[in-house]
Amino acid sequence: MEKTFIMVKPDGVKRHLIGEVVKQYEQKGLILVAGKLMVISEELAKKHYAEHVDKPFFGELVSFITSGPVFAMVWQGNDAVVIGRKINGKTKHLEADLASIRGRFATNTAFNVVHGSDSLESAEREINLFFDESEFV
Ligand code: CMP
Repeated sequence: MEKTFIMVKPDGVKRHLIGEVVKQYEQKGLILVAGKLMVISEELAKKHYAEHVDKPFFGELVSFITSGPVFAMVWQGNDAVVIGRKINGKTKHLEADLASIRGRFATNTAFNVVHGSDSLESAEREINLFFDESEFV
């Protein structure tokens, strides 16, 4: 069984899309094992997006992800990481399948509604950054 880290970003929370995102994962058969509404600190944002530190959009990315509440989740199931990537759709909204969350709801690459782990290694790292063992049900 794999676990993946999925997060509804501040734009998705503001647009009342938490339920829509959760529905997609539930309908695909993944199991929600941890979840919380939270505001990300600048320190956590910089750790979470450390791989993008040299990108020109890093500052904008950190201020966006800390700008309001996010809904952080851990979903479990067979092939959870790949399924999460397919449900979310490609990062760039114009390349995202129209049936995916980003294809349906994202209006630009920066404000793309959801984040999902891109590999098993990222999933483990991100889950450990956001969740304590005691928060799993
Ligand atoms: P996410 O899956 O959370 O991982 C990194 C994020 O960086 C990505 O979603 C986008 O929100 C953001 N991002 C990627 N490319 C760009 C870009 N060219 N301009 C602004 N933000 C970007």
